[in-house]
Amino acid sequence: MGNRPEQIPKDRRVSGIGRWLTRRAMLPYAPYFSGPAGPSDHGDVMSQLSLDKSKIRFLLLEGVHKNALDVLSTNGYTNIEYLRGALDEDALIEKIKDAHFVGIRSRTQLTEKVLDAANKLIAIGCFCIGTNQVNLKVAMNKGIPVFNAPYSNTRSVAELVLGQLILLLRGIPEKNALVHRGGWSKSAEGSWETRGKTLGIVGYGSIGSQLSVIAESLGMTVIYYDAVTKLPLGNARQIGSMDELLASADVVTLHVPEIPSTRNMMRAEQFAKMKKGSIFINAARGTCVDIDALAEAIKSKHIGGAAIDVFPKEPKANDEIFESPLRGLDNVILTPHIGGSTLEAQANIGLEVAEKFARYSDSGSTLSAVNFPEVAVPLQPGKHRLLHIHKNVPGVLMNINRVFAENNINISAQSLMTNDAIGYLVMDVDKEYSTVALEKLQQIEGTIRTRVLF
Ligand SMILES: NC(=O)c1ccc[n+]([C@@H]2O[C@H](COP(=O)([O-])OP(=O)(O)OC[C@H]3O[C@@H](n4cnc5c(N)ncnc54)[C@H](O)[C@@H]3O)[C@@H](O)[C@H]2O)c1
Repeated sequence: MGNRPEQIPKDRRVSGIGRWLTRRAMLPYAPYFSGPAGPSDHGDVMSQLSLDKSKIRFLLLEGVHKNALDVLSTNGYTNIEYLRGALDEDALIEKIKDAHFVGIRSRTQLTEKVLDAANKLIAIGCFCIGTNQVNLKVAMNKGIPVFNAPYSNTRSVAELVLGQLILLLRGIPEKNALVHRGGWSKSAEGSWETRGKTLGIVGYGSIGSQLSVIAESLGMTVIYYDAVTKLPLGNARQIGSMDELLASADVVTLHVPEIPSTRNMMRAEQFAKMKKGSIFINAARGTCVDIDALAEAIKSKHIGGAAIDVFPKEPKANDEIFESPLRGLDNVILTPHIGGSTLEAQANIGLEVAEKFARYSDSGSTLSAVNFPEVAVPLQPGKHRLLHIHKNVPGVLMNINRVFAENNINISAQSLMTNDAIGYLVMDVDKEYSTVALEKLQQIEGTIRTRVLF
C-alpha cells in the first residue's frame, strides 16, 4: 500500500461523540503560534495575529481511522494530509517540517532528530494506547503536548476476557486441540457454567470495572482487589487483600498497570494460593506475571487453564518467532497482545485523539496529555486567550503579572500548572490588549513558546 495523500470528501458528516464539537467550527480563526521553536509562517499571520484554520496543517500517518478526519473537518480543520503508511526517517523529516499537528500510530518513530526538524509542530497525537514511539521528554521541552487514547479499547479487552473465561470454564481449548488431532472426549468432566462462579478481578479500573458489570449479568459473583478503595459497581465486593481474593475466586484476572508494585505480582507463591483447578487470565501487562511459575502451575494441574494475551517478552514484528514456556499447553489460550485490537476500538481512538487535537487547538486544553501539565479552562466570550509554555523556573508567573500590570493589561482568567520541567499558563485578556500581551509574554525569561487564540 503506497502513501497516497487522500482528499477528504466535502460531504463527510460527523457522527457519534464528534457532534458536540461542531460549535467550535464556528470559530473562524485558530491559534497564532510563536516562540523560539515556533513556525516560520509569521509573515502572513503577524498582521492578523491569528492563523486561519485552513492554514493549520495536519499530517496523519499510518492510516489512522477516518473518524479522525470527520472530527477535524467538522471543527473547521481541512488542511489534512492523510497517508496510509508510516514514513522512513528522511521522508518523515521532510513532511513534518510543515505540520502543526502530527497523528501517528505505533510504527512512526518521533525521535529527537525528527522533532528537531518539526519547527511548526504544536501537538502530537498517538492514535493508539502506547506512546513509547515518541521521545516524550524532547517533545515536552519543545512545548509540544502528546495525546493518546488510553481508554478507547476498554470494552474490547473486557469482552475478550469474558469470552476466554467462558471457554476455559468449559475446558474448550483442550477439547478443541484434541478434536483437531483426531481425538474425541465426549464428557462433562471438568466443564462448568459461569453462573454462580466467583470472578476475582485484580485492578478495578476502566477494564476491571467494565468486566465486573458484564460478568454479573452472566450470574457470576464478582470480587475485586485494588490498591485503592474503589466504588463497587452492581453487587461486586472489594476484598481487603490479594491473598483473600486468590483463595476465593474460581477465575482470577489481572487488570493492573505496569508499575513497580505490579511487577511479578503473580509468582509461584501466588499461584499456589489460588484454588485447585481455577482459571488465570492476564490481558494487562506481561511483566505482571512470572511466566515460568505459571507454566509450572499449569503442568502440575494446580491451575486448570489460562488465557494470556501479554508476555514479558513479545515479538517486535509479525515475522519474529514467539517463544514462551506456555507454548504447547492445550489448556492455555495464547493471543498476540490483541486484547484491545478491534475495529470499534480503532474507530473510538480516531475520535478521541482528533477531539483532543481540536480542543488543544481551539481552547489550549491539554487535558490527558501524557507529557504535559494539564490545563483545561472554558473559553470566555469576548476575550482573547494567551497560552504560555515556559521552563519551570522560579519567578515566571511573578514576572508575567508584573509586566502585565506595568502595561495595564487586565487578566480576566489565569490558570497555571507545572511539572518538574515546564509550566503551562492559560490566560484570558481583553481583546484590545492581546497583541501587546503576546509581545510581552515572548520576552519573559524562560519562555518556550506562546500562542494567542481568538
Ligand atoms: N491486552 C491489551 O491489548 C490491553 C489493552 C488495553 C489495556 N491493557 C492493559 O490493561 C491494564 C488495565 O487497564 P485500565 O485501562 O483498566 O487501567 P486503569 O488505570 O483504568 O486501572 C488500573 C487499576 O489498577 C489499580 N492498581 C494499580 N496498582 C495496583 C496494585 N499493585 N494492586 C492492585 N490494583 C492496582 C489501579 O488503582 C486502577 O484501579 C493496563 O496494564 C493496560 O496497559 C491491555
